Amino acid sequence: MNVPATLTSKPITPRLGAEVYGVDLRDHLSEVQFSAIHDLFQKHHLLVFPGQQIDAEQQGAFAERFGTPDPVVKTEANDGSYRNAVHTVTNLNDQGEPTTSMVINANYWWHSDRAYRPAGSLATMLYGIELPPTGGDTLFADLIQAYESLPESMKRRIEGLKVVHSYEFMRDTIMKLPLTDEERKKVMPVVHDLVPVHPVTGEKILFLGMYASEIVGLPLAEGRDLITELQEHATQPQFVLAHKWRPGDLVMWDNRCLIHKATSDYAVGQYRRVLRRVVVQGKQPF
Ligand code: SIN
Repeated sequence: MNVPATLTSKPITPRLGAEVYGVDLRDHLSEVQFSAIHDLFQKHHLLVFPGQQIDAEQQGAFAERFGTPDPVVKTEANDGSYRNAVHTVTNLNDQGEPTTSMVINANYWWHSDRAYRPAGSLATMLYGIELPPTGGDTLFADLIQAYESLPESMKRRIEGLKVVHSYEFMRDTIMKLPLTDEERKKVMPVVHDLVPVHPVTGEKILFLGMYASEIVGLPLAEGRDLITELQEHATQPQFVLAHKWRPGDLVMWDNRCLIHKATSDYAVGQYRRVLRRVVVQGKQPF
């Protein structure tokens, strides 16, 4: 790896995550800087850049180095403005006050961003702006380790299975906010392998999350039970990394092999939690 002298990194755990220092994400990255960060991303799947000070445009420009930013489906922001590919993730309602409403807080459920797209997504870049005094960590579950640790009998049972991922399913079951006809046209359900292979590392991934609605070819209830069982396995503490936010952290992660969620261990209806997110589109085959 050709690493610029100023750029240093420190692994967070032996299997997942690294902190990256010596780069200012406001700047246009040189090819050498970009390729060093890209290599670290492929190796560690989750990168933390502490102490950044970036605006939405700079965050979008950083994301564009990795691919095409993906616009959101629900385009009306809580403040009534139009949300595009770079948007806030917040617990604030239309009046700018903290709320526990699930219409706003679906990020507290395990998911891979945009798993309902035919190509899923490559990465998310999330930037911490306002955080509660304690708690509100983002948890990341490593779906590669989760697959590896399955009993051989379960690996055989799930071999070749395919899963429907549906944005509408999430809206109905978690947000309780039915899609509009306009939105439905933009997000037809898609099918992904239950155990895709990571395109870079070749490792197998137990790919699930809140958009996983059914298993192709299994009776609905049986498929749902299997999804629940596998997701409970994948989100056990030994596969989970918690990121404790400080304002100015930019965290980027690999949506191909991680699911994540915010933690509701603080007074969600009382303290403000505001982050800025951009998701980079994935590539097919997923
Ligand atoms: C997300 O779901 O992309 C955001 C996670 C968070 O709010 O911590």
